[in-house]
Amino acid sequence: MSTVRPLIVQEVCLRDGLQIEPVFVPTADKIRLADAFSALGFARIEVSSFVSPRAVPALADAAEVFAGMQRAPGTVYVALVPNLKGAERALAAGAGELNLVMSVGQTHNLANMRMTTEESFDGFARIAALPRGDVLLNGSVATAFGCPFEGGQPVAKVLDLVRRYLDLGCNGITLADTTGMANPRQVAALVERALPLVGADALTLHFHNTRGLGLANVVAAYDAGAQRFDAALGGLGGCPFAPGASGNICTEDLVAMCEEMGIPTGLDLPALIALSRGLPALVGHETAGQVAKAGRVADLHPAPPGLRAA
Ligand code: COA
Ligand code: ZN
Repeated sequence: MSTVRPLIVQEVCLRDGLQIEPVFVPTADKIRLADAFSALGFARIEVSSFVSPRAVPALADAAEVFAGMQRAPGTVYVALVPNLKGAERALAAGAGELNLVMSVGQTHNLANMRMTTEESFDGFARIAALPRGDVLLNGSVATAFGCPFEGGQPVAKVLDLVRRYLDLGCNGITLADTTGMANPRQVAALVERALPLVGADALTLHFHNTRGLGLANVVAAYDAGAQRFDAALGGLGGCPFAPGASGNICTEDLVAMCEEMGIPTGLDLPALIALSRGLPALVGHETAGQVAKAGRVADLHPAPPGLRAA
């Protein structure tokens, strides 16, 4: 009997999910959420970002969240890092992985990081030279499927950045669809080109559902051989420096789809739904997630009373 490849879900709600929220979620609530994610058994949890607190006030408490949360053995606790100062802060906070981020599109990199792509890489080279023990390095290519300012980006340029990250010694690579511009055929084509360079155990796909294609893109990437995916509880998220940005693919919707398709994720769907239903109280609005509202496919309704016999 052939075994179905698992799909690994990496939880990014605390970082990508909260960075765009106008309210500041109290540190104690972030820590509770981090602990809940750890208890659910996620392989990776992106806890926060060590960026300028003026750029992203919602995550100004990154060090406090790292200090206050429990750590489960076997879970990698990730910190997004834009520059050397962020890397030093993340290492001091005890991050298990530094997630370096820059955009293929020069315009988005200037808007988001206030640096050219070359300046981003100069900083990453200095980060890679820091002593970091067994702390992992991941390299993220943002706007890999299209830049909201420039449009489509050449595949060769994306793959060149992947190679440069690998040359720096990155253990993992993320291809990110920052503003939901990807389509399933484009995704399959890029995954097929990236896998020989990166390997399925090191490649992450990061999709946003801005135009409704998030889960379709997951299926296309999985069928092309990818296995690691970022997702945010409730489908929160988005880049504050990309016009029209909206949420990540939704963790519980992704897990529900995998359950229906017989793809193992190792995650407890009812527990995820229960956790997601607490998010509106934290962020002050409804979330985009659909399964938390509709219930699971398996949650059937009683037949209306008084039906005639069939
Ligand atoms: N963490 C905390 N503070 C930082 C920092 C970091 N990683 N990097 C820079 N700073 C501080 C500097 O110390 C300086 O502080 P001061 O004014 O009190 O002296 C100030 O920020 C400006 O520093 P500078 O190097 O000139 O930064 P900048 O204004 O050009 O901004 C970034 C560059 C990268 C710090 C900023 O654009 C940023 O944080 N971007 C991240 C955006 C983001 O998180 N997007 C979503 C995720 S992809
Ligand atoms: Zn994102």
